[in-house]
Amino acid sequence: MAKPMHLFIKKQVQTDLYKKTGLEKTLTAFSLTTMGIGAIVGSGIFITPGLIAANYTGPGVMLSYLIAVIVCAMAALCYSEFSSTIPLAGSAYTYVYAVFGEFLAWILGWALISEYLFAVSSVAVSWSSYFQNLLAGFGLNLPPYLQAAAGTVGVKGGGVDIVALAITLLVAWLLSKGIRESARINNIMVIVKILVILLFIGIAVFYVKPANYRPFLPFGVHGIFKGAAVAFYAYIGFDAVSTASEEVKNPKRNMPIGIISSLLVAAVLYISLSAVLVGVVHYSKLGVADPVALALSLIHQNWAAGVISFGAIVGMTTVLIVMSYGGTRLLFAISRDGLLPQSLRKLNPKTHVPVANTWIFGIIASVFAAFIPIDKIAELVNIGTLSAFAMVSLGIVFLRHDERFKGLDTSFKVPGYPVLPIVSFLACVYLMTQLQPFTWQAFGIWVAIGMVVYAAYGYRHSRVRALAEQDSQA
Ligand code: ALA
Repeated sequence: MAKPMHLFIKKQVQTDLYKKTGLEKTLTAFSLTTMGIGAIVGSGIFITPGLIAANYTGPGVMLSYLIAVIVCAMAALCYSEFSSTIPLAGSAYTYVYAVFGEFLAWILGWALISEYLFAVSSVAVSWSSYFQNLLAGFGLNLPPYLQAAAGTVGVKGGGVDIVALAITLLVAWLLSKGIRESARINNIMVIVKILVILLFIGIAVFYVKPANYRPFLPFGVHGIFKGAAVAFYAYIGFDAVSTASEEVKNPKRNMPIGIISSLLVAAVLYISLSAVLVGVVHYSKLGVADPVALALSLIHQNWAAGVISFGAIVGMTTVLIVMSYGGTRLLFAISRDGLLPQSLRKLNPKTHVPVANTWIFGIIASVFAAFIPIDKIAELVNIGTLSAFAMVSLGIVFLRHDERFKGLDTSFKVPGYPVLPIVSFLACVYLMTQLQPFTWQAFGIWVAIGMVVYAAYGYRHSRVRALAEQDSQA
């Protein structure tokens, strides 16, 4: 007789670690770093510094970026310890499955699906608005019903964001061709993106007026923390790198290097860019969708504004590629465990890519991007991610106490244990409390849908549970 299996059954990852999974190992520390920068630096740097300065911090905006990167770096160290201990696809979902068991892993996996889907759709919408601006520069305008989703703030007569729909599907097509090709394209785009950000800093730094930095914190110290909860969006993406564990050469060494260095590069770019931006334009004028272009037009460098808009488009394309990649590998990992239908884990024999999964993810993200006004869903990206970071941070304490992982040769350990993971957990929870009530309600509904899916499908098809039942019958 099968014993009743509880909801918190844990995944026995040691056996999985040495199995051949079918995914090809092609990624190096360098490609992981560019992949990280590709995933991180996108619409956040081209839009959020202005909004944070105008609404929350004033010229002290770089302090919000500094706090946000400290929280992310602590979580990144925890991710690195997990990903070098358990180098399997699925990232935080797989880690939580191993230490907290199936139910919490499913909830977290479901939250992460929302992070990836909403991140891809929100960035696709920003991509679309920069692209349409560039077209408008050549006198080409789409009819209003194809410009944006109905109900988008500031757009009359919207219907479908056709450009956002198209770019999301184009990225799905690219990924369906195989990760090696996508990583190569990603590397080139990352270099272009870094160059245009440096170009902006290099030009604008000569127009900084010290008077613009006074008063430094017009909204008080509290504004820095509200600003940090928003700035957090700009750093999201490094966690997507850890979803690639199974495709990395020597993940124990390369994974921590890739995650931490991409985060550091992003932090240096954000802090420098925002410091220059508020020095050039008075903070009160920065609450616009394209603050970087505004700064350049104020200093009469319109030629650079065009180049930077092009760079922004390229930059956002890499975010779309890596976040879509992360989403598809997450679906792959969940489906491999039986918690979602098996068609999501089928690999193409030639390219070793989960093709059906890639298209399903791309189509859902493109529908969100085309029809939902983006201000409604953007904060959902943050809440899904922060909940994952919080669980991963706390998970380190359980990982260290877990007998099953004591014998494993792990090359990376979080420094300052146990203080750092606990502070990281508390900091993530604190930033979650800074988000809007609407975000909490919508997230609650998403999690409730996830529970229904689990009860109706995942609980019955779980491979971990099936194996445990076989063992208990033997
Ligand atoms: N960090 C990503 C961006 O800023 C989501 O575009």
